[in-house]
Parts: sequence; structure tokens; C-alpha cells
Amino acid sequence: MKNLANSPKKPSKGGDSSSPAGFFPRWLNINIAVQDGVFFLLGLIGALIVGWIIFPAVLYSKQAQPINFNHALHLDSEKVDGIDGKTKAEKCEFCHGFRDDGSFTGIPKLEKCTECHDDPESPLGETPVEKEFMKKYVADEKEIPWLVYSKQPDCVYFSHIAHVKMGTIACATCHGDFADNEKLPLYVKNRLTGYSINIWGKRISGFYWNKKPSDRMKMDDCARCHTKMEQEQNNACFVCHK
Ligand code: HEC
Ligand code: HEC
Ligand code: HEC
Ligand code: HEC
Ligand code: HEC
Repeated sequence: MKNLANSPKKPSKGGDSSSPAGFFPRWLNINIAVQDGVFFLLGLIGALIVGWIIFPAVLYSKQAQPINFNHALHLDSEKVDGIDGKTKAEKCEFCHGFRDDGSFTGIPKLEKCTECHDDPESPLGETPVEKEFMKKYVADEKEIPWLVYSKQPDCVYFSHIAHVKMGTIACATCHGDFADNEKLPLYVKNRLTGYSINIWGKRISGFYWNKKPSDRMKMDDCARCHTKMEQEQNNACFVCHK
């Protein structure tokens, strides 16, 4: 009976208001809470390093283009004369034109470049990049093995003339401001899927505010634009997969 009377009082739910940390309930041990907080932060930082730095480094392989082709320079009439076309959009077709049968020439062959860069001994400018280009490709008449950022798998049928001429869609709608580049971006490939990042999208989460075709060009992105432009008839499997 004596013991019972002396036994310490069970703490009340709200905590003992006379203790220094009385503001917090007893079961909440401040030291442990701070420790937990530190561990949580360390874990979070670790996860962010893995998610933002290590995972992307493992997921993507990066490759430089064989030489730097400067679009901005070649499209500037004051620096490069002889690229036909009054507007910037017309100039694209000097190198990325259509053949008589409507097929797209894609990336120009070396013979387009040698219309101007014809003599390996006398470069047109003074830069080391051009000298290297002359030595490695023009002198040996060797094609430049360009990497194609927007290359789709072989099973996909895509026609430029349908989109550019019939659909009157600007190059930049799908390719972004690529032609303003002075320096070519690295070719970044997703090791798991084998797709370039320009198709698979730059965000691992796949989430974009207001997604544009130039952000990503997966199957759904093609179909979304067809739906938006009232081209649902082109969303049947056999239209894009022949
Ligand atoms: C003097 C020739 C020339 C002209 C003019 C030119 N390009 Fe290019 N373009 C190239 C070459 C060479 C490449 C391949 C190297 C590279 O990726 O930049 C290329 C590549 C591209 C690519 C990358 C395609 C891919 O997926 O890899 C796009 C997009 C492009 N050009 C758009 C344009 C647009 C838009 C214009 C007009 C505003 C234009 N180009 C004018 C020569 C030219
Ligand atoms: C209409 C003529 C013309 C055509 C076609 C042309 N170029 Fe040029 N290019 C020039 C001139 C002119 C310069 C020098 C500009 C300067 O330095 O002011 C130049 C410069 C360059 C340079 C050095 C640029 C730098 O940033 O250092 C490279 C590399 C180059 N061209 C590659 C190419 C390739 C590859 C092609 C074919 C796809 C091509 N050019 C087609 C006229 C042309
Ligand atoms: C509706 C979207 C769309 C538009 C508009 C568009 N492209 Fe493309 N472009 C693509 C796709 C998709 C590919 C990949 C095609 C493939 O791999 O079969 C591509 C590929 C290319 C390539 C690489 C071709 C090769 O040799 O493999 C070049 C260069 C290019 N486009 C330039 C242009 C230019 C210049 C314009 C404007 C005249 C343009 N594109 C307009 C979607 C577009
Ligand atoms: C920015 C909008 C847009 C995007 C992005 C787009 N398309 Fe289209 N596509 C169109 C329009 C508009 C037409 C109808 C053109 C016409 O006939 O007037 C079309 C027509 C087509 C056709 C039928 C034309 C033909 O030659 O048979 C195919 C195939 C096609 N698109 C494939 C694709 C594929 C594959 C992609 C993605 C890699 C894609 N499109 C992305 C707008 C788009
Ligand atoms: C508007 C064009 C378009 C239509 C319509 C379309 N596809 Fe695709 N499809 C693509 C493109 C572009 C890719 C490559 C990019 C990707 O994987 O998302 C692709 C990829 C695929 C792949 C993966 C192939 C590979 O090599 O990884 C399969 C399977 C496929 N499509 C099946 C279908 C089926 C089944 C339908 C009909 C229900 C369909 N597609 C309709 C454009 C289209």
C-alpha cells in the first residue's frame, strides 16, 4: 500500500507542464526528434544525389558529334554568303531540302559542304575547327558520321513533306531552336531504351508543364498533335508503322 502511494504518477497525456520541455508531449523526445530530422535530411540529400546525379550518369551515355557544325554562323548572311533563300526558313532547304519524289534529304552530304569548302589548302575562315574539317573530311572526301538527335526506330514511318509542306508546320515546332546553335549539343542516349534524349525527353519523370513536341517525341506525343490538329485519321497503327 505504501509503495502504491509513492509510485510515480503516470504522465498525463499533455505532458508535465513543470518540465523544461513541457511544451511538447512527453513521448516526443526532442533529442531523438532532432536526430531523426538529421537522418532524414542526410537520407534526402543522399537520395537527391543518387536521383539527380548518379542515376542520370548511369542511365545516359554521352557522345560528341564528329565536328562542330555552326548553324548560326552559316545562316548569318553577313558571314556566309551563298546559302540560297531570303528568310531563315527558306535557307534551311538549301541543306535540308526535298527531292523531286518528295523524300527529305535529311542531313546534307559532304558534296553540299564542298560547294563552298572546296579547297583543303585554302580555308574560308581562320578557325581550327574548319582546318580540322578540311583535313579529316574534305581532303579525304570522307562523309561525316553525324549522330541524329531525333532518329526514330526503324519501325516508325515519318514523312517531312507531309508535315512541313502539307501541314505547314515550322521546323522549330518539332526541333526547337536548334538552328540558332553555335555549338552542337552532345548526343545523349538512354542506355535502357536505346532512344536519344530528344525522343525520350529530358525529364526522367516524364512530367512537363504544357508539353511541346520539341520536349519529347514518343508515340503519344505524335498522336497528341494529330488529335489537336484534327488529324485523328492518322492515329491508326498502320499510318505510323508500315
Ligand atoms: C549549310 C547547311 C545547313 C543549313 C543551311 C541548315 N542546316 Fe541544319 N544541319 C546541317 C548539318 C551539317 C547538320 C548535322 C549536324 C548537326 O546535327 O547540326 C544539321 C542538322 C540539323 C538538325 C538536327 C537533326 C537531328 O535530329 O539530328 C536540325 C533540327 C536542323 N539541322 C535544322 C535546321 C534548320 C531549322 C535550318 C534552317 C533555319 C537549318 N537546319 C539549316 C546543315 C545545315
Ligand atoms: C555557301 C557556302 C558554305 C557552305 C555550303 C558550307 N559552308 Fe561552312 N563555312 C562557310 C564560310 C564562308 C565559313 C567561314 C565563316 C567565317 O569564319 O567567318 C564557314 C565555316 C565553317 C566551319 C568553321 C566554323 C567555326 O565555327 O569555326 C566549319 C566547321 C564548316 N564551315 C563546316 C561546314 C560543313 C560541315 C558544311 C556542309 C554541311 C558547310 N560548312 C557548308 C561557307 C559555307
Ligand atoms: C512534325 C514534326 C517535325 C517537323 C515539323 C520537322 N521535323 Fe525534322 N524530324 C522529325 C522527326 C520525327 C525526325 C526523325 C525521323 C526518323 O528518324 O524517321 C526528324 C529528323 C530530322 C533530321 C534528321 C534526318 C536524318 O538524316 O536522319 C533533320 C536534318 C531534320 N529533321 C530537319 C528538319 C527541318 C530543317 C525541318 C523544317 C523544314 C524539320 N525537320 C521539320 C520531326 C519534324
Ligand atoms: C506538331 C504537330 C505534329 C506532330 C508533333 C506530329 N505530326 Fe504527324 N501529322 C501532323 C499533321 C498536321 C498531319 C497532316 C498533314 C496533311 O496531310 O496535311 C500529319 C500527318 C502524319 C502522317 C500521314 C502523312 C503521310 O505521309 O502518310 C503520318 C504518318 C504522321 N503524321 C506521322 C507522325 C509521327 C510518326 C510523328 C511523331 C514522330 C508525328 N507525325 C508527329 C502533325 C503532327
Ligand atoms: C502517330 C504515330 C503513331 C501511331 C498512330 C502509332 N505509333 Fe507506335 N510508335 C510511334 C513512335 C514515334 C514510336 C517510337 C517512340 C516510342 O516508343 O514511343 C512508336 C513505337 C511503338 C512500339 C515500340 C517499338 C520499339 O521498337 O520499341 C510499338 C510496339 C508500337 N509503337 C505499336 C503501336 C500500335 C499497336 C499502334 C496502334 C494502336 C501504334 N503503335 C500507333 C508512332 C506511332
